[in-house]
Amino acid sequence: MPGIAPQAVLLPLTADTDLPSSFLDDVISGLTSPQKSLSSKYFYDETGDRLFQRIMECEDYYLTRCEMEIFRDFTADLAVPLNIHQSAFDLIELGAGDGTKTRHLLDYLERQRADFRYLPVDISGHILEVLAQNLENTLPSVNVVPTQGDYFDALQRICETSERRKILLFLGSNIGNMTVEDCSTFCQQLSSMMNPGDMLVTGFDLKKDPKTVLRAYDDHEGLTREFNLNLLRRINEELNADFDLSCFEHYQTYDPGSGACRSYLISQCEQAVTIAGERILFRRHEPLFMEVSRKFSHADIEALAGESGFSQISEVCDRKGWFMNAVWLKNL
Ligand code: AVI
Repeated sequence: MPGIAPQAVLLPLTADTDLPSSFLDDVISGLTSPQKSLSSKYFYDETGDRLFQRIMECEDYYLTRCEMEIFRDFTADLAVPLNIHQSAFDLIELGAGDGTKTRHLLDYLERQRADFRYLPVDISGHILEVLAQNLENTLPSVNVVPTQGDYFDALQRICETSERRKILLFLGSNIGNMTVEDCSTFCQQLSSMMNPGDMLVTGFDLKKDPKTVLRAYDDHEGLTREFNLNLLRRINEELNADFDLSCFEHYQTYDPGSGACRSYLISQCEQAVTIAGERILFRRHEPLFMEVSRKFSHADIEALAGESGFSQISEVCDRKGWFMNAVWLKNL
């Protein structure tokens, strides 16, 4: 397989969660609901990936820099509670992307002579190839086993083939893109696939000055705006639709009480959009809900751990106290 590190085996994708028909079904169902919405999981086509990369590098979007600071400068604080010398373990990263942050942890584990394998999981086979190649160049002695596919399918396949203790990573505040209910169900589902003694490390964006949060999603460069509009362009291209992108405006809200930061596209006029033959009417100023990025208090995070079958054993924050990586232990 070109581009894959020699020791890496790309476990095959068994269930394709992104078939065009489910994309179309999801789009139609979202646009025919009383509150029109689109699922943010469809943001990430090639252009969306590139835009998200630029968002992560932009001044206003602090999340990536904060979590990077934790992984780079507080690696030992993060690793010590993981009991890395207790037994051999599988370090499984859900939604690994290019693994830039994780590389600091892998480097630390190598230097500590921990007995572990690194199993990055991602829906994108391409990004896994890039990741495996980067690691082959920078940390060639790490045993990397990339697994392509949906998180739970991949985790199931890993559980069936390995008896080792599991340490799961779910970084980048991806958990914030779930509703309260989905987030709780997700954590419980993860917990049900783990054994007592297994651990979960999650990245949470913390509640902070509302203006700082809002600015991260309403950035000066207009990248978040483009990121949202790109989904309409993708629907036009892939689902034969005719959204006029100039007739929608990006609008961001943040509710500091609940911690929900929501993005919308607002229809600028009364208009009809046709998608695969289906006509959807928009009123003037009608909001199209695009994404929630939830922010958490320390108490919210501990409560989520408790209701999902975990105990929080450690928390590591960046110097500003804006972001947290929480370490949870699966309960007996
Ligand atoms: C992937 N996720 C954690 C990002 C966030 O902060 O919610 C997605 C994003 N949307 C707009 N900017 C970034």
